[in-house]
Amino acid sequence: MKNYDCIIIYESIYKGNTKKIAEAMAHTIGCKIATAKEALNIDLSQYKTIGLGSGVYFGSHHPAIFAIVERMENSQQDTFIFSTRGNPMHGKYHKPIKEALLNKSKRIIGEFTVKGYDGTGPFLIFGGGNCGRPNEKDIEKAVKFIRTKLPKYCVTDYYKLIKNHLPVKDGTVNTYRYNHNNNSIIIKGDIVSINQNICIGCGKCTTVCPMNVIDIQSDKAIPLRELDCTLCSLCAINCKERAIYIHYSWKDAINVAKRHSGRNSL
Ligand SMILES: Cc1cc2nc3c(=O)[nH]c(=O)nc-3n(C[C@H](O)[C@H](O)[C@H](O)COP(=O)(O)O)c2cc1C
Repeated sequence: MKNYDCIIIYESIYKGNTKKIAEAMAHTIGCKIATAKEALNIDLSQYKTIGLGSGVYFGSHHPAIFAIVERMENSQQDTFIFSTRGNPMHGKYHKPIKEALLNKSKRIIGEFTVKGYDGTGPFLIFGGGNCGRPNEKDIEKAVKFIRTKLPKYCVTDYYKLIKNHLPVKDGTVNTYRYNHNNNSIIIKGDIVSINQNICIGCGKCTTVCPMNVIDIQSDKAIPLRELDCTLCSLCAINCKERAIYIHYSWKDAINVAKRHSGRNSL
């Protein structure tokens, strides 16, 4: 019996490149994330899906990732592999870990790799290769990979399923009710939409938002001042429950600039 959906295990010894990818993936599905060392104390047989990733070091994943696979039971379980690498081409870097997983009867549901900053060897001569990687686009690709491979673990953005959205007014917040399998899902807000069923009222969003958009009322986060939002997404990124989704059109993005054009400071 597997009690948990997914765990992502990573080793990121060089520049934290793979850690960025692992964190984006884990945030997308709200799953547990652990370094290879931390994973040594976790019962991995409890997870339906295991993601394993690291930088590529001398043509292969980090030995700590192999050590994790070595400890796994020889039983059917879904896994996926990810990496960051210096070389432009992916080549056969995943082959050794794939073989190790297959030897443990694991099913590999997908593989993901992106470039990561590499200042080793000849790259150093010109200031390092892949500067700034993984970048925003790489992170988006990682999120897309997880959404595609593990849709069953993704939280639904119910706001997108609501047919008629109301105009956004200053100082108020629109509330929507969506019926899902006879459950009433309450969404508050249009630009900053907060799923009231998932929100636990921890208040993290209120502390990270630089614009004081959100208040906690009756143990739930309410985006009371949506028109102050600059679309920075800090609230959504920091919401462990993934109760917050940011929505905007290009017009909204331009309106942000218009509304805040008179400001000289926070
Ligand atoms: C010791 C060492 C060996 C590496 N070997 C390779 C390699 O064989 N192929 C490659 O594409 N990149 C190689 N790289 C570059 C890393 O894969 C790349 O920088 C990666 O993003 C590092 O991930 P991390 O910051 O998560 O550790 C190497 C880097 C280091 C430090």
